[in-house]
Amino acid sequence: MTVAQKQVSRIETGIQGLDSIIEGGLIRGDVHLLAGGPGTGKSILAANFVFNAVTGHGEKAIYATFEESTEYFKRNIKRVGIDLHPAEQAKTLRIIDLEALRGKELESNISLLISAVKETGSTILVIDSLTALLYACETRFELRTFMKTMYKSLKELGTTSLMTVSLPNGATLGTEGFLVDSVMFLENWMDQSQFKTRFVVLKMRGTNHSKKYHSVILSPKLSISKF
Ligand SMILES: Nc1ncnc2c1ncn2[C@@H]1O[C@H](COP(=O)(O)OP(=O)(O)OP(=O)(O)O)[C@@H](O)[C@H]1O
Ligand SMILES: [Mg+2]
Repeated sequence: MTVAQKQVSRIETGIQGLDSIIEGGLIRGDVHLLAGGPGTGKSILAANFVFNAVTGHGEKAIYATFEESTEYFKRNIKRVGIDLHPAEQAKTLRIIDLEALRGKELESNISLLISAVKETGSTILVIDSLTALLYACETRFELRTFMKTMYKSLKELGTTSLMTVSLPNGATLGTEGFLVDSVMFLENWMDQSQFKTRFVVLKMRGTNHSKKYHSVILSPKLSISKF
């Protein structure tokens, strides 16, 4: 490891095959985006990261769900071998259901999350997903302003943030990708007559990351590997 690499503090994701292609983990304090098509494993990847961080590395996390209720989310994640209940009991993880806030001012969502991070002393914040919030923006200008405010607030907070965003199949990332520190991308592709999932790091500031597509296995345990 070089001196420059040592100076950057990272949180290991603990996900098999991921840390080795991003110089050891996600840069602490940065705002990371995990984009991808529907059902590509964004929530499973985010939940694995949080689970590994709070159970193995002494981190504290907030996991905010927007589209799935917390119970539904926990049940689905348990099916891929991740039981979040003990971490919740131990108060190293708080899962917040933000569905109820839909339709309210976007800023109120951000301030609620910021208060929760401060109150719990969380080092990690996951927002799963941003999609509903982005749809609440009526114009591209509003969306850009929202992303800028969000980015600035999260950086000031100093937490390591991971936000997911759902993109329709084949769609590319718009403004969202420019206002974050890293963009990881999951997509389904057709291999003969079967859907498979692949992962690529599109950008990661301060990181000499892999530029290749990697193959993703979601179950029984999430792993990322060379093609
Ligand atoms: N128990 C399981 N065994 C195998 N594969 C599973 C299992 N549970 C879920 N999956 C796969 O994971 C996908 C869902 O993963 P996940 O919920 O993380 O996707 P997502 O990208 O967050 O989806 P959305 O865009 O709807 O939020 C399913 O479409 C399925 O392919
Ligand atoms: Mg999801």
